[in-house]
Amino acid sequence: MNWEKSDRLKALPPYLFVEIDKAKREAIAAGRDVINLGVGDPDRPTFEFIVEAMRKVVGDPANHCYPFDEGVPQFRRAAAEFMLKRYSVELDPTAEIITSIGSKDAIAHLPLAVVNPGEVVLIPRPGYPVYNSASVFAGAEPHYLNLTAEGDWLPDINAIDEAIVQKAKMIYVNYPNNPTAAGADLAWYEKLIAWAKANEIIVAADAAYNEVYFETPPPSILQVAGAKDVAVEFHSLSKTFNMNGWRIGWVAGNADVIAALAAVKGNVDSGQFNAVQWAGVAALEGSEREEILQQRKLYQDRRDVLCAGLTKLGYEVSPPAATFYVWCRCPDEVDSMTFARRCLAEADVVFIPGIGFGPTGEGYFRAALTVEVERIEEVVERLGKLSW
Ligand SMILES: Cc1ncc(COP(=O)(O)O)c(C=O)c1O
Repeated sequence: MNWEKSDRLKALPPYLFVEIDKAKREAIAAGRDVINLGVGDPDRPTFEFIVEAMRKVVGDPANHCYPFDEGVPQFRRAAAEFMLKRYSVELDPTAEIITSIGSKDAIAHLPLAVVNPGEVVLIPRPGYPVYNSASVFAGAEPHYLNLTAEGDWLPDINAIDEAIVQKAKMIYVNYPNNPTAAGADLAWYEKLIAWAKANEIIVAADAAYNEVYFETPPPSILQVAGAKDVAVEFHSLSKTFNMNGWRIGWVAGNADVIAALAAVKGNVDSGQFNAVQWAGVAALEGSEREEILQQRKLYQDRRDVLCAGLTKLGYEVSPPAATFYVWCRCPDEVDSMTFARRCLAEADVVFIPGIGFGPTGEGYFRAALTVEVERIEEVVERLGKLSW
């Protein structure tokens, strides 16, 4: 058969994590002792109290039918209660929250629900690649907002060309940020919401890392008065509860945007397995358990070991306040791809080159804190043997 991939698929840059993963697998297959600080996949298992909750519900035939497209009411209620307790944000669980299949599902489907071909989606770079692919799939015109260290890795919304602002339908933002680990405070969110309202732009805020923090808990954009007029926020159970393989999250905020997203999802998936949503209820109800607090401490210890080690070796790095990523400058004059390639080839250490997140990621690499402290010490030792 003579056929070609769709133009929209051809328009995507290669999905970087897949490429890095391939190189890593080849190294492992060759018998090398690879330390993977690449893909941000929590390394610890799902907490036992959640697995136990799943065991109790998985055999119940009531959970074996098609789920509701928008999610079981109990999960949405648990999410609403979590938002109230954690952020003092009041949400109607029937209209202002839907269950998503991980936050990626919602992030990826939202443009199909709210953006027409030719309309602009504002996309931060460096950033999570799905904002771009989702926009391209929807036929939208991506407009990239370059984040820089000087700008605290926040988009300069006032610098966006007026003609672009006029055509813009939506903006993605992500704090705590992947890959830079930067944060946004409520004052910045207030400015963003005021700007979005003035320009009638939907704000799609990705809060996947909001619960992975070390000191001050990051805010929700929905804490801004009137944010629900223009914003939705994506939440994930993946990183908070090590439920990355279970695929569960929720979207909260503007009821019309959520209804539109539910309509898209009703046509492409049939919701998440009810039993997973019930396990999600147990997770959210247990969000202040000791295990969760301990996990923050675990990432903090790993962060401290890596940042201290890198600093000692002369790298320029500042310890992140949230996320399990360390965003570090490459040695002078070394581009990020060369750095990542050499680290894999000569030290068997996987990092993600900053360029993979967009041009302004050049000169940086991202390390995920998803291996034990001893292995991080080993990473530092191996890096110490490389000369640049
Ligand atoms: C910034 C960001 N948003 C969203 C996601 C998606 O996570 P999930 O679909 O597991 O909730 C990821 C995953 O790595 C991420 O880094």
